[in-house]
Amino acid sequence: MNILVAGGAGYIGSHTCVALLEAGHTVIVADDLSQRKSGTLELVQRITGRKIIFHLVDVTDEAATEAVFAKYDLEGVIHFAGLKVVGESLTKPLAYYYNNLVSTMVLAKLCLKYGVERFVFSSSAAVYGANQIPFVESMPLLPATTPYGESKVMSERILADTAQAEPGWSVALLRYFNPVGAHESGLIGETPAGIPTNLMPYITQVAKGKLDKLQVFGDDYPTVDGTGVRDYIHVMDLAEGHVAAVEKLTPGVHVYNLGTGRGTSVLQLVRAFEEANGLRVPYEIGPRRLGDIPACYADTTKAQRDWGWTSKRTLADMCRDAWRFAR
Ligand code: WQD
Repeated sequence: MNILVAGGAGYIGSHTCVALLEAGHTVIVADDLSQRKSGTLELVQRITGRKIIFHLVDVTDEAATEAVFAKYDLEGVIHFAGLKVVGESLTKPLAYYYNNLVSTMVLAKLCLKYGVERFVFSSSAAVYGANQIPFVESMPLLPATTPYGESKVMSERILADTAQAEPGWSVALLRYFNPVGAHESGLIGETPAGIPTNLMPYITQVAKGKLDKLQVFGDDYPTVDGTGVRDYIHVMDLAEGHVAAVEKLTPGVHVYNLGTGRGTSVLQLVRAFEEANGLRVPYEIGPRRLGDIPACYADTTKAQRDWGWTSKRTLADMCRDAWRFAR
């Protein structure tokens, strides 16, 4: 199929482009390169040996985005193009609401105008708020703790209401848990700008000696060892989940968790990283981080039942692949 990947030069977007190309799809990427250099797409082409069609486009710009829809006979859209630094959304809420909502509305509007029937949206487990675990797609959402999370809740609602009013339109809302790792080639991976806010890229910077030690944000949570528990999923498993979603979508709106169903604490991840890579990661226990929930992991039954998709890569794979890319 001809798939438009909005935000395809980003961390999850670029890995999804690899999976789409390897599944034989034609990939058109629209990205404003605000988060990345275009070198990432060259590396995707090198990994797969296949060409990507690239358009430098800000998908909040309707006219520029429409030019792409008019040029290709698109059969699906995967929308990654959004701001995603959770802490930053607290200091720049308007930018987060504007970018994340306008991009969703522009892409949805153009899908309807040009008869593009499949829409896959990059959502987040952040929409569950402090719900009881494991998070299940059908559970009522609690208020998200940041504008980032709320922008995902609002985007989901916009797409669900639109799908309700447009029979024949197919929407998948994919709620990611914690994406980590990198393609096994070590050519593409997660490159946050500045000091990483997420755990795995912080660990790799400490392992490289660029940062001196990891701050563990609290060890007094009601969890296995007191540190925060999350459902870490390999970014290539996540990418393959997007291929399953776009290929198996049916009319209506469908919500799916993309996680492993397993919870891992901060200290368990540190230990797994040390063992997988034969090195030490110095850390110290610090205060809790505002907005963090104690534990979060997915119920993964639905994606397995509907698509036959489950995560395949282990925590050790995630640690080895993250380290190979960082090195
Ligand atoms: C993981 C655990 C921290 C850094 C966020 C978003 C989520 C998604 C992924 C976009 C927590 C602990 C972290 C550090 C630490 N983003 N930690 N020291 O907050 O679970 O999820 O990023 O889609 O939507 O909410 O990820 O990697 O920041 O934290 O102890 O230096 O690691 O307390 O328990 P998080 P994270």
